[in-house]
Amino acid sequence: DLVIITDKGEMRNWSRKKRSQGKTIGLVPTMGYLHQGHLSLIQEAHKHSQLIVVSIYVNPGQFSPSEDLSTYPSDFHGDILKLKSVPGGVDAVFCPKNLYDYSNNGKQKNKNENENCASDGGGGVVSCVEEKGSGHETWVRTERLEKGLCGKSRPVFFRGVATIVTKLFNIVEPDVAVFGKKDYQQWRIIQRMVRDLDFAIEIVGSEIMRNSDGLALSSRNVHLSPEEREKALSISRSLLSAKSAAEEGQVNCGDLKDLAVKTITQAGGRVDYAEIVEQESLEAVEEIKSPVVFCIAAWFGKARLLDNMEINI
Ligand code: PAJ
Repeated sequence: DLVIITDKGEMRNWSRKKRSQGKTIGLVPTMGYLHQGHLSLIQEAHKHSQLIVVSIYVNPGQFSPSEDLSTYPSDFHGDILKLKSVPGGVDAVFCPKNLYDYSNNGKQKNKNENENCASDGGGGVVSCVEEKGSGHETWVRTERLEKGLCGKSRPVFFRGVATIVTKLFNIVEPDVAVFGKKDYQQWRIIQRMVRDLDFAIEIVGSEIMRNSDGLALSSRNVHLSPEEREKALSISRSLLSAKSAAEEGQVNCGDLKDLAVKTITQAGGRVDYAEIVEQESLEAVEEIKSPVVFCIAAWFGKARLLDNMEINI
């Protein structure tokens, strides 16, 4: 039976009780609007723990004020139905209202308190948390890993992710947490954070779930028109071509990246980045001599799509 928990104290009590009964807990953090990609993480989590907690929380800390927080899709009832029918089941859903509201019982804060904390953290960058002035000022950062790839165009994104994942870890106290390789940099950042800060949590990376035509599943795909969706297939197709080319000996990254950018641009996409990087350090490489991952972010219409492929040479 699935329990739905909104209060963080209740969530922690639930987990502590289960753990005291000797159960292991797997956490699958999400922002909801669930699809098969999310559900595949739950399947993976079942291999590593006895009980499964799925969190659903659209985290304002990882959106900048100019990004799509307000239009981020949601369907709570649909999500619950999906979680109820997932093979192996889910034991608890944690869907807090606001994890940055530290006032008494989540009641409205007084105005002065809000004004005091509308800071930009000193770095000139602001997330929707500072914008709303919640008084939150502690952030977890993976200083080097957060800078490249998606971090270039989204400077507050990864500190927001690392911070909310830390909060979820401290609230749920899981033994294992599962992340999709779809968001490759995110997975590597969480892995590094857990190692560097000695969290007693095993981080599992789960394979990318794709449609039969190759498009990586994403909540943001709903923003694609049928024509844009067709054109967006150029991303996964160019990754696949690059992988085959590399396996056949074309190991010059400049050439591989140029071809991918050309293919996606010709299809009408706007490439944010196309980078071939070492799998753990995420450092760019010039020639493929050891395992790498080819990461691409590209805009089609209103949707910024992410995809990647590991090339294990
Ligand atoms: P969200 O985009 O909802 O994704 C939740 C998890 O599902 C992530 O680990 C993501 O990598 C995984 N996922 C999404 N699409 C996938 C696919 N096609 N195949 C496999 N896994 C897929 O990522 C986030 O939320 C947030 O940043 C979060 C970690 C919850 C922190 O707020």
